[in-house]
Formats: sequence, structure tokens, C-alpha cells
Amino acid sequence: QGILKEVWDDETSVSMLGNRLKKVVQNYQAMNKYGVKVSGPGGVASRAKLSGPKLLCRLKAEVDVSTVTSDLQPFSSLPWASQLPSKQLTSDLGPFRSCAVVSSAGSLRSSGLGKEIDAHDAVRFNRAPTSGFENDVGSKTTIRLVNSQVMASDAHRFLSSSLYSSGTLVAWDPAPFSADLTQWYNRTDYPIFTQYQRYRMLHPLQPFYILQPRFEWQLWQQIQDNMAEPIQKNPPSSGLLGTVMMMSLCEVVHVYEFLPSRRRTELCHYYQRFYDAACTLGAYHPLLYEKNLVKRMNQGPDRDIYTHGRVTLPGFNRLNC
Ligand code: C5P
Repeated sequence: QGILKEVWDDETSVSMLGNRLKKVVQNYQAMNKYGVKVSGPGGVASRAKLSGPKLLCRLKAEVDVSTVTSDLQPFSSLPWASQLPSKQLTSDLGPFRSCAVVSSAGSLRSSGLGKEIDAHDAVRFNRAPTSGFENDVGSKTTIRLVNSQVMASDAHRFLSSSLYSSGTLVAWDPAPFSADLTQWYNRTDYPIFTQYQRYRMLHPLQPFYILQPRFEWQLWQQIQDNMAEPIQKNPPSSGLLGTVMMMSLCEVVHVYEFLPSRRRTELCHYYQRFYDAACTLGAYHPLLYEKNLVKRMNQGPDRDIYTHGRVTLPGFNRLNC
């Protein structure tokens, strides 16, 4: 059973990384930019490892995929409140039957997964293009999840590029761990709200939601609670945020090349000639641990991971907890 050794090990630890990356990850693990308060076992392997079904139920119970609405403080008293949606993403969108979460990993190159992905509703991330890569990543974008850094960077032409104009947009920005919406509004990582307002003026008809930062930290807590070592005190990557978001919108979720297939490579993104193992293993984000969690929840065979980089997760509505 050679493939078993080559698919993602759900107990991958920072100690298994190469020296350079180990130092980078340990550096992030020693920082606490967002003032995370660790509760529970926090780094001690005292809790029994949960089975996949138990983990799925824990996630469903503890993580609330919520978005910012116009009736919430401080937005309700701001002049541009009416630009925000009045309802939650999860009440406006879906339910979808089957969804594809398309990571931006370099291992999607030459995968030929495009047709398979296009048979789903699909979520893509940040500046990942489809044009020119249809054969490997498909062409359908139902939702695009963007971080505030991409929204704010001049290089990524968020306001003017047609890359962002199909489907529904969802944005996120890391908030201090214990901040309420007002404190976050006054201290965002990147100017998410000025860019949101500008984008809405230019594209008033495209649906555009903003994730509540408490969702990010609830998910972070679930990762930490289920790991035997302290994880980076930074929000989960877009890939995991999008995966859990789709679990609340879809009956079945297929995640592509989040757990690397046999095409595993140090090529960071399928759309760019840049090599760094940190893209797959994490530096700022607790990506290694996110992948451990996803591996434990996977309901598909290891062979799917090996050949297609494919993980199968149930939608939250399909779980009997
Ligand atoms: O780099 P970016 O955040 O835009 O990529 C989208 C997501 O795809 C990441 O947040 C991460 O979860 C996943 N990814 C990965 N391995 C890579 C590149 C991206 O798992 N090599």
C-alpha cells in the first residue's frame, strides 16, 4: 500500500518540516498579533482524538458561518450601511447539491480536473484565474472568497479587473481575537471597508458579502482544540474558510488539491511561476493543522486524494448529530 504513505498524514507536526520552514512556522507560533486567548487543552495532547463523524458534528455545532448585515452596529449608523446585504449569505444562497472547493495549489497544473470541477458549483480564492487554465481548474465560479490584502493591493487590480466580476463575492479580514465589530471596524488588518464601498459603487449589482471575524476565530479554536501542539495564533487560510463556508451551503463538498495529490509540487499556485513549500505547508496560517483536520473529516478513499487531490465532505445539513 504505497499510496498510504504518500497521502497527507493527519498527525503531521511542525517537527516533520525541513529546517528553514520549521523556523518560519515556529516564529509565527511564538507571535500573537491578534491577542488570541488560548482556552482548553492548548498544546497538551490530553484530549482523545475525535473520530471523523464526531469532528464534523463538533464543527457544525461550534462554528457559525455568519456574514455582516446592514442592521448591525457600527454599520447601521454609518451612511453607507445600505451597501451591505440585509440578509445572511446562508439565507440568500444555496442550498447547492454538490460543490467544488478549488484550492490554488500548483498541483492543479496538468490535473485535467476542469470538467469534473465544472459539474459542481465552485468556490475559488483570491486572484486565482480560470481563463487559460480551464482544462485543469474549470471555468465556473459560483463564489469567490477574497482576503482584504488582495482587495487592497494595487497589483491585484481588485476594483478594475474582470477576474472578480463573476459569481458572488465574499471578503474577509483578520480581526483581533476578542474584538467586537466596532473595534474591528476601527482596526482592520487591511482597508476592507473602504475597498468594499468602492467596489460596490462600481459593481452595484454583484452580490458581495463580508464574513464575520468571529467565524474565523471559532474555526481557529476547533483546529487548536483538535491538535496536540500549539498552532499559529493567526486565522485559518482562505482555503479552509471557504471549505467550511461551502459545508453550510452545499449537500456535498469536494475539495481539490488542498490535500496534495501525487502531483504534489513546491509550485505555489497553478497560475504563477513561484516556488515555495510554505504555500502548501503554511507559515502565517496554521495550514498544516487545517490539513490534518480536513484529512480526519474526509469521507472519501485515500486513493481519491492520491489521484485527484480530492476530499469528500458532507454538508452540515446532511449530518445527523
Ligand atoms: O494563496 P491563496 O490563499 O490565494 O490560495 C487559496 C487557498 O488554497 C489557500 O488559502 C490554501 O488554503 C490553499 N493552497 C494550498 N496549497 C497551495 C496553495 C494554496 O493548500 N500550494
